[in-house]
Amino acid sequence: MPRTLIEPFRIKSIEPIRMTSRAERVQLLEEAELNVFKLRAQDVLIDWLTDSGTGAMSSRQWAALMLGDESYAGSPSFYRLEQVIRDITGMSRVIPTHQGRAAERVLFSAVCKAEQVVPNNSHFDTTRANLEFLGVEALDLVIPEGLQPALVHPFKGNIDLARVEALLQEHAPRIPFGMITVTNNTGGGQPVSMANLRAYAALLRRYGKPLILDACRFSENAMFIKMREPGYADTPIAAIVQEMFSYADGCTMSAKKDGMVNIGGFIALRTDAWTEAVLNVLILTEGFPTYGGLAGRDLEALAVGLQEGMEEDYLRYRLRTAEYLGERLDACGVGFVRPTGGHAVYVDARTVLPDMPVEQYPAWALCNALYIEGGIRAVEIGSVMFGKRLPDGNETYHSMELVRLAFPRRMYTQSHFDYAAEVIAEVRQKAADIRGVRIVRQSRYLRHFTAALAWA
Ligand code: F0G
Repeated sequence: MPRTLIEPFRIKSIEPIRMTSRAERVQLLEEAELNVFKLRAQDVLIDWLTDSGTGAMSSRQWAALMLGDESYAGSPSFYRLEQVIRDITGMSRVIPTHQGRAAERVLFSAVCKAEQVVPNNSHFDTTRANLEFLGVEALDLVIPEGLQPALVHPFKGNIDLARVEALLQEHAPRIPFGMITVTNNTGGGQPVSMANLRAYAALLRRYGKPLILDACRFSENAMFIKMREPGYADTPIAAIVQEMFSYADGCTMSAKKDGMVNIGGFIALRTDAWTEAVLNVLILTEGFPTYGGLAGRDLEALAVGLQEGMEEDYLRYRLRTAEYLGERLDACGVGFVRPTGGHAVYVDARTVLPDMPVEQYPAWALCNALYIEGGIRAVEIGSVMFGKRLPDGNETYHSMELVRLAFPRRMYTQSHFDYAAEVIAEVRQKAADIRGVRIVRQSRYLRHFTAALAWA
């Protein structure tokens, strides 16, 4: 019998989480206008809203904070971080930013123009928004398998090379670069294979186009390659990561994910071609190039975090937690995006609420039920997030009704996962009592963050 795969760390400093009663939670959620984004975090027992910037730092990272040098220019903390990123990515130009979307905005505004088009497996919403803001079309070209929740495929994040080639043939002059997101967050945290990265880069190179990695979850992607792609089982993670980056000409990074920090990001570039244009934008809004919107101590914590995020024991445990919750959901008949991703499990709300009409937002309703029954906060990836109210008052709906349970790094133990699985099983049993919702007030963009809802 294989032994339980334990958390490869022990706990030095704890934060209490507060139990609430079901009746209290109903009241708190109603006060939050049935929108979990508007709950106070202290009223949440298990906070799985996002894995971004929410994880626990290690004792080594906390110690590194004290080494932070807060010089405006030329801080040794920057040079330490620069060396770590150069070693990991093989890219010599390292430009810190305050988080991932800042890296996107700085890079895109330096090198993109209106009417251009950028292919990606799937753009994350800030990546898409930053491109569209500049008048650039953000095209999602993930393989068809990546859009079928129940279908099992080892690399559902792969980009569809035939469609990329057709795009290049028809529109090469309009394409400033190709992007690829590892892992594919929008598509369920699904990995991209080394073979796909290699072939995508070669295809772009034939047309003289650079490849930019959206690298937020590069370590998790590398671990999937090690576990699933023939030929990599015995390759160290650092070597897999180096090979992944070797195909890219640059990257944008939200360090709030695999950088294991609460804030931070960066751009890395292989050559000087774009560096000056990028630094010009950076200085306007982020700061001087040796801190880019971060404190010296943030740079130190990130230098350590990037290395810790690549430790194999940690990654094995990390991917196993998502897989474990998937097994528990399977056992109680709750559907989810298969196989489970690196940072999250995406529950298919239609398998819990098959009869709830889409007009009552089943994924949102399930999110509310998880909070009411167990104090769990998740995020709806369904028709509130991706649907729209049209000027004529009609609504458009999303193709899927998903609930994302995203796991902060090194934060929750197996018993938290067991508890969550029990809550989900109970919610499924009581599915007939789950109430749908309607939107009573909404903003024009990204309405899910602030919308007010009522029971349908
Ligand atoms: N790219 C990807 C693939 C992301 O998942 C995110 C953030 C970003 C870029 C933007 O980075 O937040 O540091 O500005 N994803 C978070 C999430 C917010 O919940 O999935 P950021």
